[in-house]
Amino acid sequence: MISQKSISFQITIYDSFDELKNKDQILMSAAVKARERAYAPYSSFNVGASILLENGEIIEGNNQENASYPSGLCAERVAIFYAGARYPGMKIKAIAITAASLNHEVSEPAAPCGNCRQAISEYEFRQQEPIKILLMGEVGRIIECNSLADLLPLGFNSSFLN
Ligand code: THU
Repeated sequence: MISQKSISFQITIYDSFDELKNKDQILMSAAVKARERAYAPYSSFNVGASILLENGEIIEGNNQENASYPSGLCAERVAIFYAGARYPGMKIKAIAITAASLNHEVSEPAAPCGNCRQAISEYEFRQQEPIKILLMGEVGRIIECNSLADLLPLGFNSSFLN
């Protein structure tokens, strides 16, 4: 028998930074600060990511590029690997991501790349609790996703290895 199924998910859209709840503004502001410290001399595309931990602490990361291009790493993975290294096993409540280019105005929310989705999903699957994702460009609307799993349907996780 053949069956078909559609997969959908809900997002919340905020017209601007000012519409965010205060604690999300604080998290996104940390991502903006991190973005401003990005090392992206090759793409001129600066990304910042901030992570809210269960203990209330905010961990930041930004993209770190390399003359050997593939050796660089995205902001999200710099941040989440740092969180995992600094606070192993600590639950992650939310991640805010923002991008700005030196060449044009980024007015649409910056979506995490596939590798970063997979990396974040490892932590979400491990903690068995959703991680909220906030996405912003340099200006403009902000998209809130309820979980990483929404952004990576039919994802691969450790359950396949057992
Ligand atoms: N980048 C990120 O930091 N996060 C993403 O999710 C997408 C891309 C970085 C990688 C590279 O340094 C630059 O943006 C251009 O691709």
